Amino acid sequence: MTLSEKNDKLVAELLSYFCGGFMDDFLKLVNTRYSCRNYSDKKVPREDILKCLEAARLAPSACNSQPWKFIIVDDTELKEKLCLAAYSAPYAASWPKKAPVIAVIVTERGNFTSRMGNMIKDTSFYLIDIGIAVEHFALQAAELGLGTCWMGWFNEKGVKKALGLSSSTRVDIIMPLGYPATKEERKKVRKTIKEISYFNTK
Ligand SMILES: Cc1cc2nc3c(=O)[nH]c(=O)nc-3n(C[C@H](O)[C@H](O)[C@H](O)COP(=O)(O)O)c2cc1C
Repeated sequence: MTLSEKNDKLVAELLSYFCGGFMDDFLKLVNTRYSCRNYSDKKVPREDILKCLEAARLAPSACNSQPWKFIIVDDTELKEKLCLAAYSAPYAASWPKKAPVIAVIVTERGNFTSRMGNMIKDTSFYLIDIGIAVEHFALQAAELGLGTCWMGWFNEKGVKKALGLSSSTRVDIIMPLGYPATKEERKKVRKTIKEISYFNTK
């Protein structure tokens, strides 16, 4: 075991010691979520989709502006139309259409204070907000045994046309949702804690 792996292990042990079962459960959940690219055709109950939406709804956002709209596509015909448009070349992908649900996340520009903050600080707070809300959605899905995959590579114009959205609408993320076709325990390929952080000054 390398020194940095030992450090990571120690941090995980300390977190577990100080934060008890809750942190254990949370880290387990975070580890459970992975980018699922192989779905079964088993229907996802609306009730479970609503739980994922509730988790997204509770996400924090700059100035509490909640700059998101989740369009849930679970109608088979519409989903096919959407996938055809979203994954045409050069965005070609054949696996997303196997997912019984596609969540299309509309990025809104945020409220006035958040937009002022964006301008003054030159930070796209609304994109940070979207990231948090969508990950809440994905983690709740993982907790329900559902797979998801963040997708930023798709034909945005095609998506908007398929869903009848105006051309000025922004869709930055699409998230297929469904039961994984196979049970996967994929090892996370990540930088070490030492590579991504330090305490106080270096
Ligand atoms: C903003 C964002 C956009 C992504 N876009 C795509 C995508 O278009 N297609 C895809 O297959 N995976 C996409 N991914 C998934 C990443 O490849 C994946 O999260 C990363 O490799 C880590 O793997 P894991 O999610 O299985 O832990 C995206 C992830 C994020 C966060």
